[in-house]
Amino acid sequence: MLSSRQVQQYAEQGCLVLEAAINQSEVELLKQAALAIVENFDINNQRSVFSTGDRDRGRDDYFFDSAENIHCFLEEGALDEHGALQKPADLAINKIGHALHDLDPVFKAFCELPLFGRLLREIGYACPLLWQTMYIFKQPHIGGEVRWHQDGSYLISDPPGVTGIWVAVEDADRNNGCLWVQPRGQQSPLREIYEVDWIKRQGSLRILDSTPWPQTHEAVAVEVPAGSVVIFHDHMPHYSSQNFSDKSRHAFTMHVAEKSANWSNSNWLQRPVLGNFEL
Ligand code: FE2
Repeated sequence: MLSSRQVQQYAEQGCLVLEAAINQSEVELLKQAALAIVENFDINNQRSVFSTGDRDRGRDDYFFDSAENIHCFLEEGALDEHGALQKPADLAINKIGHALHDLDPVFKAFCELPLFGRLLREIGYACPLLWQTMYIFKQPHIGGEVRWHQDGSYLISDPPGVTGIWVAVEDADRNNGCLWVQPRGQQSPLREIYEVDWIKRQGSLRILDSTPWPQTHEAVAVEVPAGSVVIFHDHMPHYSSQNFSDKSRHAFTMHVAEKSANWSNSNWLQRPVLGNFEL
């Protein structure tokens, strides 16, 4: 499916955009499945907020346990200063993660579309394992900024080489908080690492390299229609700004690693029960 030029482009740029690679009807199924999960979520009993601000502090057992479950996380902006919910549930969730591919039949079937396994082999994988999946809502008005980061800081393998697959469930543009990437930025060093001390069940972000994050003029907006697929290297810096518009920007992401690579024990994401999911 990928041309040799696209394979080369991915290797050089650290990312590749495949516009409208998936039918609208396929992504619509994901959206309905995600909304069904939210409908069954007990928002009054679980108030875990997902934020990438404040150096990733505040990740708790609910977050760690989501590695092998389907958990919903709230937007910071959905709660007032007293912790009271300001929005209906379907407009308050930041994301759902991280074992959708194991536990929800609609997401499992989507991940098993031949397209993904084929793409990954074409960019060099021998046996890609799917480690995590997320459904991201980027809610209208409150969908928070995700600061510059490299996904490799959160998913460490040896040798390094996690790949992100980002699927636009809805149209993404600069008004509703699309991805911004730094092409060729995958050549820069890994700047941070998020590690968990499992005795204390506490994670922390450590600086590895003082290379500054890209400047505004180095960032390229990935404005794509629903059904588009973006593949990116785990060292490629990327961010998304707050959604200031009245349109949501739903996306589904998958992260894979080579089966033969060693998965770090200090990764927050561990799958001792669910095990391998090969694409
Ligand atoms: Fe990311």
